[in-house]
Amino acid sequence: MKIIIVGSGYVGLCTAVGFANLGHDVVCVDIDEEKVSKINNGEAPIYEDGLEKMLSQALQENKLHATTDIESIKETDFVFIAVGTPSKDSGAIDLKYIESASADIANFIKDKNYCTVVVKSTVLPETTEKIVIPILEKSGKKAGRDFGVCVNPEFLREGKALEDFFSPDRIVIGELDRKSGDLLEKLYSNFKAPMMRTNLKTAELIKYASNAFLATKITFINEIGNMCKNLGIDVYDVAEGMGMDKRISTHFLQAGIGFGGSCFRKDVEALLAKSKELHSESKILNTVLDINKDQPLKIVNLLKKKLPNLDGKTIAVLGLAFKEGTDDIRDAPSIIIISELLKHNCKINSYDPKASTNMRKLYPDINYCSSVSDALSCSDACLILTGWDEFKRLSDKDFNVMNSKIIIEGRRVLDKSKVSGAEGVCW
Ligand code: UGA
Repeated sequence: MKIIIVGSGYVGLCTAVGFANLGHDVVCVDIDEEKVSKINNGEAPIYEDGLEKMLSQALQENKLHATTDIESIKETDFVFIAVGTPSKDSGAIDLKYIESASADIANFIKDKNYCTVVVKSTVLPETTEKIVIPILEKSGKKAGRDFGVCVNPEFLREGKALEDFFSPDRIVIGELDRKSGDLLEKLYSNFKAPMMRTNLKTAELIKYASNAFLATKITFINEIGNMCKNLGIDVYDVAEGMGMDKRISTHFLQAGIGFGGSCFRKDVEALLAKSKELHSESKILNTVLDINKDQPLKIVNLLKKKLPNLDGKTIAVLGLAFKEGTDDIRDAPSIIIISELLKHNCKINSYDPKASTNMRKLYPDINYCSSVSDALSCSDACLILTGWDEFKRLSDKDFNVMNSKIIIEGRRVLDKSKVSGAEGVCW
C-alpha cells in the first residue's frame, strides 16, 4: 500500500521504516529540510536501536523516501499524522503542528482519490473530531464519504521502538466510520496482536490513560520505595512479590529517581488540564506529578548524608539520557540532579554512551568523559542514573579508581554479586 507519514520525529520515522520494511511504499513528509536530507542519505536523525540499518535497507529497496513537499506526491492509500504535540506553559497541549499538518493534508486531498487520514500523534479526546476533521474538510471533501479518518495511537517505547512496532501488545483503531476502520485493519492484517476497534475519542483517551496509568504505577512504587528506604526493606523484593499477582505484574515497578522522557509528564499534564476543563480535576494525576518532581532529588539528599560537604567534590554521573537505549534527554532526571550538584559547587564527570552531545547543549561546562573509567577516576562519589548494559557489567575493580567508593544507584542496575557497598535511592 502507499503510505504518507507527516512528521519524522521518533514515532513518525520508526513507523515509516517499519511499514517500509513490511513492503509498503512510504513517503516521509517533514518541514525540516535538514532532517529530510539526512533521512534520504540513510542517516537517522535520532539514535534508536536498529533504525539506521533498517532505514538504509528501505532506501536501497526504494520503499521509502523523504520530502518537504507533500504536493509532490501523486496518490496514497493512507496519510498518517505523526507530528509532535508539545505542551504549553499551562500544561495544555499545543496543537499548532497538528493544525498545520491537517491544513497541508487538506490541500493535498483536494484533488486526490479516496484515502484514509490516520491520526497517530497523541491528541486529547475530541481533537480529531473537533479540530482535525474540520480542517481536512476545508478541502471541500466530506470526511467519511470522500476520505476516511482513523485514530491509531502509538505505544512505542524509545530504545525499543522497532521491537514495539513489529510486536505490539495491541493495535487500537479509532474509526470515524466502518470503511475507514476496515481499511486500517487491512494495513495491520499481518500483525499478530489483538486489535481493538472503537470510536475516535475512545482511541484518543486510551493512549492518554495508558501513559497516565504507567506514570502512576511508577510513582506508586517510588512512594513505596521511599518508605522502604526508611524501613531497611529492598523495594525490588516488594515489587517482585507484588508482581507475582497477575493482576499487578512486575512491569513498570522499577523504583528509582522517577520517570522522565518526552511523553509521561507531558501527557499527564495534558490529561490533567483536560480534567480541569471538564470540571472533574484529577487528584491522582496532580499527586503523580508532584511526587515525580521530588524523586530525582532523593539521590542528592542521600549523597549529602554520605558526603556532608559537597563543595568542590568530584561526582561521577553515569547515564544522562532519560533512560538507557536512547540519546534523548528530554525531562531526564539527570538534568535536575546535575543542576542540584552544581548548586553545591561539585565538579561533574559525566558519561553516557549516546546522550553526551545532547546534554552538552544544556550543560556545556561539565566534563563529558569518553568512558566509565574516565568518569570514575579520582571521583569522590558515583551516581548511576540509567541502566545501560555496560553499567550492568561493572564490578568492584572498576570502582577501585575512585577516591572514595561511594556508589548510589538511581535505578537498579549493578549486579550485587560483582559490586559491594552500592546503595539505592530507595532500596
Ligand atoms: C512511553 C510508553 O512506555 C510508551 O508506550 C509510549 O508510546 C511512549 O511513552 C509515548 O507516549 O510515546 P518512553 O517514554 O519511551 O515510552 O519510555 P518508558 O520505557 O515508558 O520509560 C519512561 C520513563 O519511566 C523512563 O525515565 C524510565 O526510566 C522510567 N521508568 C520506567 C521507571 O522509572 N520505572 C519503571 O518501572 C519503568
